[in-house]
Amino acid sequence: MPSVSDDPRASDATVPAGLGDDASIRVENLSVTYRTSFEKRPTLKSTVTRMGRGERTVREIEALQDVSFEVPRGAVLGLVGANGAGKSTLVRTVAGILPPTAGRVEVDGRVSTLLALGVGFNRNITGRENVVLGGLAAGLTRDELAEKYDEIAAFAELGEFMDLPMRTYSSGMYGRLAFSVAVHMDPDILLIDEALSVGDARFKRKSFEKMRELCAEARTIVLVTHALGSVRDLCNQAIWLNKGRLAMCDEPDKVVEAYTRFLDVGESEEVLEDV
Ligand SMILES: Nc1ncnc2c1ncn2[C@@H]1O[C@H](COP(=O)(O)OP(=O)(O)OP(=O)(O)O)[C@@H](O)[C@H]1O
Ligand SMILES: [Mg+2]
Repeated sequence: MPSVSDDPRASDATVPAGLGDDASIRVENLSVTYRTSFEKRPTLKSTVTRMGRGERTVREIEALQDVSFEVPRGAVLGLVGANGAGKSTLVRTVAGILPPTAGRVEVDGRVSTLLALGVGFNRNITGRENVVLGGLAAGLTRDELAEKYDEIAAFAELGEFMDLPMRTYSSGMYGRLAFSVAVHMDPDILLIDEALSVGDARFKRKSFEKMRELCAEARTIVLVTHALGSVRDLCNQAIWLNKGRLAMCDEPDKVVEAYTRFLDVGESEEVLEDV
């Protein structure tokens, strides 16, 4: 427990947004707009006649609009919202992969990201090589890496597949390695975008237990998931994004309740399922 602060809120991780000094993620008036340029539905004829003239249309998608919140150090934030609500965009911005169009994101500490499957690994090199490259990119020294490598490989339980190109992996095997890398990097801040549901039932259980362990340590975690049971079980703060805007930031139970009411699906077994 920190004794430096006499602010009663400082040690209470269940308090939602609005904490000042001890924030490890601070998002202020964040907006992200994607600009995509494309050829506007050309017919074959127009494709031929317009070829080389570069007539393109720009479509703007406002993925996030004026989002502000703070995550205190050591808090576990659940991020929920419908498909396309802006969750992955928010996580990518916090990870520093995507620049804000407007507003600010401040992050205090080393960030490790487990983005949606398919991001990060090079499929043409082996699992072992990917782990080594990823570790070096994350700033680990060779000695640290040698130590970590064994833990990562043991947790992923991929056996000899570690020395085969990752294109030979099933999607579950790919996800197991991604999960194992992200949780073993000793991050101060761990961002997980829908990756808890990888693997078979046994690995899911194991990754859930690992998450529980990490959540109990003093790390800041952002967990994006459609499994609302995980939000209730693991998180102590939750955010609901709706069409790029912050719809709610409160205790997980309240957010899950409001969100399921909004979706009109009821808090049934499958909606609340663990992982
Ligand atoms: N690279 C991109 N280029 C253009 N538009 C994008 C891009 N990525 C996302 N979008 C758009 O931004 C909006 C938010 O997308 P985002 O992926 O952040 O949603 P999400 O909440 O993660 O959804 P899901 O639950 O399906 O993962 C969507 O309208 C989407 O079409
Ligand atoms: Mg997403």
